[in-house]
Amino acid sequence: MASITAGETRAATQRKAEAQVEVAAPSRREFLYYIWGASIALLLGEATAGIIWFSLPRFKEGTFGGVFSFPPDRVPATDAGPLNVPEGRFWVSNVPDQGLVVLYGVCTHLGCLPKWVDANIRFECPCHGSKFEKSGLYIEGPAPRSLDRFSTTVIFTDGTSETMSAAGDPIPLNGKSIASVQIDTGRRIKRDGKV
Ligand code: FES
Repeated sequence: MASITAGETRAATQRKAEAQVEVAAPSRREFLYYIWGASIALLLGEATAGIIWFSLPRFKEGTFGGVFSFPPDRVPATDAGPLNVPEGRFWVSNVPDQGLVVLYGVCTHLGCLPKWVDANIRFECPCHGSKFEKSGLYIEGPAPRSLDRFSTTVIFTDGTSETMSAAGDPIPLNGKSIASVQIDTGRRIKRDGKV
């Protein structure tokens, strides 16, 4: 019987390994299936992540851009000046014979911050002198329109509620007791011109 040399053993091992490699390698069709499957999985993953992202609230409650639950005991009286709420960038104003309005605290001219001036009973902008009523209505100056306001809902203790109109008019309170005030700083209402 002929003896098997070391070289023949190595060659046999190599042939066996090559045969295994040939068996394990996917065909071109299988390879395309894998690519196609991976692409579909990737697309589905992206779509799912997008849906989840859009369904999450963009802003947290109580931060600018989100909804503020304003306590009723902080609503100013009609004979008091508007209340500044810097964290929400708004003023809460209770206007005699009109009601509650929440004003965006940024001037509609070039973005300075108007201040309430008790002595003159109006907002005055320190930059170019625009002036606005307690309700935010334009009085004079270079501002192109009245102060913007935030969409607001007042919930009364009797269970009824009033939401600010699309025009952003003050919400009549009619002496009713307030349970809470919801201010949506993500929904800014721009008045049409200087009214
Ligand atoms: S920024 Fe207010 S008047 Fe110009």
